[in-house]
Amino acid sequence: MKDCTATVMSNNEVARDTYLMVLQCDLPIAVPGQFVMVKIKSSLDPFLRRPLAILHYEDGRLELLYKVKGKGTTEMAGKKKGDELSVLGPLGKGFSVPAEGEDVMYVAGGTGVPPLMALAEHLKKGRMIVGARSKADIPLWERMNKIRGVDVQAATEDGSLGRKGLVTDVVEDELSGTKPRVIYACGPNPMLKKISQQARKAGARCEVSLEEYMGCGFGVCSACAVKTVAGNQRVCMQGPVFDAALIGWDS
Ligand SMILES: Cc1cc2nc3c(=O)[nH]c(=O)nc-3n(C[C@H](O)[C@H](O)[C@H](O)COP(=O)(O)OP(=O)(O)OC[C@H]3O[C@@H](n4cnc5c(N)ncnc54)[C@H](O)[C@@H]3O)c2cc1C
Ligand code: FES
Repeated sequence: MKDCTATVMSNNEVARDTYLMVLQCDLPIAVPGQFVMVKIKSSLDPFLRRPLAILHYEDGRLELLYKVKGKGTTEMAGKKKGDELSVLGPLGKGFSVPAEGEDVMYVAGGTGVPPLMALAEHLKKGRMIVGARSKADIPLWERMNKIRGVDVQAATEDGSLGRKGLVTDVVEDELSGTKPRVIYACGPNPMLKKISQQARKAGARCEVSLEEYMGCGFGVCSACAVKTVAGNQRVCMQGPVFDAALIGWDS
């Protein structure tokens, strides 16, 4: 983990209210699923850093893909080339590596695209299912479709891209055909809970990346605690990637 000053190289809207920010900074090497804590302003407001998954990091070039939600991400969207941010990372535990020949499925909903795209770009195999309300909400669709060795499918609630419906509907269909041995997922908790149940039923291993509220990002404040079968765990330290079977989804 390193705290570094990062310079904005570009910051463009790539889907509705969703921006791809490219930063120049000097971080240690990261694995897919790890994240950074971004301090958007040097002033006190917003005070806390915001957690964002690492979409890609190589040779001092860091890519973050973020949806504008509140104060912090609104400030981020206003950043221009040459502006500086403070980036702390890489943080947390990333996804496990599938065994040789293990059939892989990635499922992304909402702001869950970045860690799964990072993994798909790294592994270069498997099927990726992306869900959103509408086509306009799916970021980096072309780039996703260019990942060598990865088949991409979309599910939109209004039917404007791919199958009309929820991402979990596609997962259900996929699981009734060829059975993946491992499912990696990130998105809203109800989606993750459903995928966890689907995976269990199909006998597949499932890892989920949780997006909990965070304070520090490195184990000090306990703001990110979640209930697991092994007791409370801090998402920033023991996660954000967890074995879905360990999460107490109803607590
Ligand atoms: C490990 C991790 C990785 C994430 N990766 C991404 C990503 O790659 N792209 C992306 O768009 N979003 C991601 N998120 C969610 C993102 O951190 C929040 O959307 C963002 O912090 C909202 O900040 P805000 O100031 O705009 O919103 P506000 O609502 O004003 O934020 C207020 C406070 O709530 C926290 N907060 C609000 N929503 C969330 C949330 N869903 N998860 C965690 N904290 C939240 C903020 O950090 C802040 O402390 C990730 C969250 C986690 C935990
Ligand atoms: S965010 Fe502070 S302990 Fe996890």
